[in-house]
Amino acid sequence: MLRIHTVNELRNTLKTQKNVAFVPTMGNLHDGHIALISLAKQHGQCVVASIFVNPLQFGPNEDLASYPRTLEADCKRLEDAGTDIVFLPSVQEMYPDFDGEHLNQTMTITPPPIATELCGASRPGHFAGVATVVMKLFNLVMPQVAIFGKKDFQQVFVIKELVRQFNLPIQIIAGDTVREASGLAMSSRNGYLTPAQKTEAAQLHQCLTKIVHAVKQGNTHFTNLEQAASQTLTQQGWLVDYISVRAANTLKPATNQDNELVVLSAAKLGSTRLIDNIDFCAK
Ligand code: PAF
Repeated sequence: MLRIHTVNELRNTLKTQKNVAFVPTMGNLHDGHIALISLAKQHGQCVVASIFVNPLQFGPNEDLASYPRTLEADCKRLEDAGTDIVFLPSVQEMYPDFDGEHLNQTMTITPPPIATELCGASRPGHFAGVATVVMKLFNLVMPQVAIFGKKDFQQVFVIKELVRQFNLPIQIIAGDTVREASGLAMSSRNGYLTPAQKTEAAQLHQCLTKIVHAVKQGNTHFTNLEQAASQTLTQQGWLVDYISVRAANTLKPATNQDNELVVLSAAKLGSTRLIDNIDFCAK
């Protein structure tokens, strides 16, 4: 596996590659990421991954500084999974106006209005940061296919919009969420949890599963279901950000006319913010 740190080297290396499948990541890789690499191998001849902890998508009080950086272990996992190239840019390489502290005049992409709802409501600027870095990475890698995890359902939605609205010739594929035996969705942030919190964390998925079952049985009182789940988690010590049933294709609040749905959630356990979702058909 080739490790590439600069834009020039990446461009030169990929110049003759016609069939690139790309998996952007922020590192601290787990089985969920490796499943995305496997998907990429099915869709492209050359698999490129990136590891870049993107400062633009972190709010001022978020975990940018403490975000786990595990470069050597990540590279080993990527290589074992059959990745051809890993792009490891510095902040300066990605953001030429970065002065060691501030991103200064960095141009950003304005994401669609949905970016102010759900995770975007409590993380202002997050999806602008994601859309901007993904656009930059797409411009550098120029993949035919890019793979993202469905655990970040709203992120996949924003990236599909980015591709649609900017006419990018890239197919976006969403890989299924990989879960622990307990149901807990794999996430780099699970590493922040104490063993007791990790056991408790499985409750988030259980609450979502309960909503899915209720809707499948014909209960379309979405607000009641959301409130009940939120109350259960709050009683168990969670700080719930949102639990919301939405139409899967638009992310608009679900109506009883919608069949393809997704229940999305974000909640804090101690200081760790976890997200999860389940997409499903009501009938
Ligand atoms: O999902 C992530 O890891 C990040 O948001 C992404 C897509 C790599 C952009 O920084």
